Amino acid sequence: MSFRIQPTPPSRPNRCQLFGPGSRPAIFEKMAKSDADVINLDLEDSVAPTDKDSARENIIQAIGDIDWGNKTLSVRINSLDTPFWYRDVVDLLERAPERLDQIMIPKVGCGADLYAVDALVSAVEAAKGRKKRLGFEVIIESAAGIAHVEEIASATPRLQAMSLGAADFAASMGMQTTGIGGTQANYYMLHEGAKYWSDPWHWAQTAIVAACRTHGVLPVDGPFGDFSDDEGFRAQALRSATLGMVGKWAIHPKQVALANEVFTPSEEAVTEAREILAAMEEAKAKGEGATVYKGRLVDIASIKQAEVIVRQSEMISTPA
Ligand code: COA
Ligand code: MG
Repeated sequence: MSFRIQPTPPSRPNRCQLFGPGSRPAIFEKMAKSDADVINLDLEDSVAPTDKDSARENIIQAIGDIDWGNKTLSVRINSLDTPFWYRDVVDLLERAPERLDQIMIPKVGCGADLYAVDALVSAVEAAKGRKKRLGFEVIIESAAGIAHVEEIASATPRLQAMSLGAADFAASMGMQTTGIGGTQANYYMLHEGAKYWSDPWHWAQTAIVAACRTHGVLPVDGPFGDFSDDEGFRAQALRSATLGMVGKWAIHPKQVALANEVFTPSEEAVTEAREILAAMEEAKAKGEGATVYKGRLVDIASIKQAEVIVRQSEMISTPA
């Protein structure tokens, strides 16, 4: 048991992160009007190399021009192995208004990657006299990223959230699939002739959740590529929520409602959590550390479990 208290992650709703290519400004207004908690304007892999400069201009313009409401506004910059990323950072911080909340750094492989970006961001912020400190989010989507996940989670106090990027992760790991998240046909156990599908993303997700929870960062599930498969999205999101992740990306607007549905604690779950807290209050008044709720054991650990659900629900109903 460590004496160190687990830090709390940023207290803001992060149920759904809606992505849109920076080269497609016609959808920015629609993104702003969506029900997503976080908007990710993309400069990376949904933008062709020849469009990088114009996409950057579109985004800088839109950060100021569009009313993004109380959403968290983030821009995904290019990865550190490209010639584009420094210009993304410098132009955004020199020219975009302070409405910008975060940048998302893709393909992070070690803590030093974030040190480098932090150094550049800090210098431009100081030079420009920017008052709002820019937050970071990262994508774990490589073998190096998952191998160094804890080092990355603790690399900078700017870090707010960490996502699993299934497609690049699968490619980097040499996984035999072209699927982006979800069930993989060849990943099954065989028992008495029947196939039981297992979850190939499970261990990476739990590694991310553990690193994030240790260092006060929000763990988020990344994209689910087949946007015509609502049930597949829901199943993947439910698994992620069960493992401790707080939200999921939407790569098409129809996935926003699905993510919000899964990552908003249901009324029944909140009622049950409140009843458990009340039962434990009663037990405490009687000097007991454990009691019975609906035929099952609840104890001091159950208070913490119930509080996770109640806190999540309260934060969503009263966003900052
Ligand atoms: N955000 C908000 N609105 C969007 C949108 C998005 N990401 N993608 C599409 N729309 C709008 C369309 O403009 C259209 O609006 P309309 O009904 O007013 O005409 C409506 O939603 C339906 O769009 P649809 O025709 O089904 O999709 P599409 O073919 O225009 O675009 C994608 C499909 C996948 C190419 C597009 O959603 C997209 O670019 N997604 C994000 C990709 C991305 O950023 N990837 C990087 C992270 S993995
Ligand atoms: Mg990627």
